[in-house]
Amino acid sequence: MYQRARGRVSGCGRAYNEEAPRRREEGARVSEARPRIAVYPGSFDPVTYGHLDLIERCAPLVDRLIVAVLRNAGKQPLFTTEERVEMLRQSAAHLSNVEVDSFDGLLVEYARRRGACLLLRGIRAISDYEYELQMALMNRRLAPEIETMFMMAGEAFSFLSSRLVKEVIALGGDVSGLVPPQVEAKLRERLPPRSSRHK
Ligand code: PNS
Repeated sequence: MYQRARGRVSGCGRAYNEEAPRRREEGARVSEARPRIAVYPGSFDPVTYGHLDLIERCAPLVDRLIVAVLRNAGKQPLFTTEERVEMLRQSAAHLSNVEVDSFDGLLVEYARRRGACLLLRGIRAISDYEYELQMALMNRRLAPEIETMFMMAGEAFSFLSSRLVKEVIALGGDVSGLVPPQVEAKLRERLPPRSSRHK
């Protein structure tokens, strides 16, 4: 695998194309020998049913799915890493090949350490595409042996984001059916509706 990676980084596109059949054969042999491990990275601040839908659909396709919470997004997350990990663990407890972990630093370095060959990302709308494409291409440049796999968000969740859920909760709106009940409870605790905060 790593030899393939080196060849691709130093070689030109043409050489890569000519090598494609051999790579596919190598890939097939590797997949027989190695467990297929995918990493699903994200901020998960907090996990929504959109994330869980993706996790449930990807888990049967791989031997192990590692949901990896970014430790310091440079943003100011509402929940600590430990809280985000715990909410994910509770929400995905019914899936035996799903593990929840956290990471910092480069995603591809984490994926390499965990022996992953796949990165999973969800796409909701065309507006997600540009950012996801940039990340996937940069990750491929950094680690050509790791593939990014995109899955379309379930149509029922294509409008859903952690940011919007937090906004709706903070304004006293209803988010049932968008996040698991235990996540909703944590959100209500952390973000009481603005009207009651001013009392
Ligand atoms: O849920 P998010 O916030 O869209 O997830 C973004 C995430 C965690 C996938 C991305 O920020 C990331 O991979 N960060 C790790 C740092 C890294 O590897 N940066 C280079 C990626 S091209």
